[in-house]
Amino acid sequence: MGSLRDKVAIVTGAGRGIGREIALQFVEEGAKVVVNDLGANPDGTEHSKVADEVVAEIKAAGGEATANYDTVATVEGGQGIFNTAMDTYGAVDILVNNAGILRDKTLFNMEEEDWDVVIAVHLKGHYCCTRPFARYIRETNRQNCRILNFSSISGLYGNFGQTNYGAAKGGIAAFSRVLALELARYNASVNTVSPGASTRLTIPLREARGEKSDVEGPLQSPKQIAAVTTWLASDAAQGITGQIIDVMRGWVGIMQQPAVIRSFQKNGMWSLADLDKVMPQLIEGKKDHDEYVKKKGEPEPI
Ligand SMILES: NC(=O)c1ccc[n+]([C@@H]2O[C@H](COP(=O)([O-])OP(=O)(O)OC[C@H]3O[C@@H](n4cnc5c(N)ncnc54)[C@H](O)[C@@H]3O)[C@@H](O)[C@H]2O)c1
Repeated sequence: MGSLRDKVAIVTGAGRGIGREIALQFVEEGAKVVVNDLGANPDGTEHSKVADEVVAEIKAAGGEATANYDTVATVEGGQGIFNTAMDTYGAVDILVNNAGILRDKTLFNMEEEDWDVVIAVHLKGHYCCTRPFARYIRETNRQNCRILNFSSISGLYGNFGQTNYGAAKGGIAAFSRVLALELARYNASVNTVSPGASTRLTIPLREARGEKSDVEGPLQSPKQIAAVTTWLASDAAQGITGQIIDVMRGWVGIMQQPAVIRSFQKNGMWSLADLDKVMPQLIEGKKDHDEYVKKKGEPEPI
């Protein structure tokens, strides 16, 4: 208890699912939290004040929280969320960019609106909510701030029927890598979480595959994501930045980042005949590496 004492945090999309659990655990650890949520349906339509329920729960337990209902998907919304924290608590230390929606379709059937709205909430949403905070860090020279961004295996590995979501989530990992460099001089850390949990976004997909959902158990609970996010937001994570942390099925892991794993150099221009020779070796090198990484990444018991 107390690992976030005196910290002020913004958690977007904290009215339900993973964000809600993060807000609750942050408060348990002593933070004051802005609970942002537009109260949208899973596809981003409709609005409600679901954030009020989380704030009421926090206050009933003696914690400090305030609700915000702005969308993360516009510059005005992102600024409004940041202003709520500043107006209420006078400072910000932690931003969790968690809000999300889905519009799953293959590209054949994906309309422009399905593309735009998913990119707007996820990728643009990270820009809209993070820029006011980044500017504040620079202008006030506030040290040791934390930004936790939410990606997905959809964007990091690829998942059928999610070109819009996968593009946004892959973009979020890239956004985080670059921002980690830009904020390093302020000792701010920017890390990416790739979660897996049973929430209203994933329960229907799980059930369609004939799998059972267990929102409370350690293999699927959004509380698992909250625990790891809380640790990354705390002083214990000082100096850890630009990383992708994988939390699902009861494990916590660290992901590899794009890197050249085998290469050849020729003194001169490449010919097609050279490439006939080296390309199969590169593909073999990649297969070996994938095998190595698969074994290395097997969860170890603690
Ligand atoms: N659940 C998983 O297994 C899983 C896997 C990979 C990634 N994620 C990511 O984790 C995050 C949380 O997902 P979840 O499973 O808890 O979903 P959820 O639907 O339970 O919660 C998402 C919340 O975001 C809110 N929201 C949607 N659009 C918003 C907007 N424009 N502005 C503000 N709030 C908005 C919704 O109202 C909702 O309360 C998302 O970014 C999601 O893409 C989840």
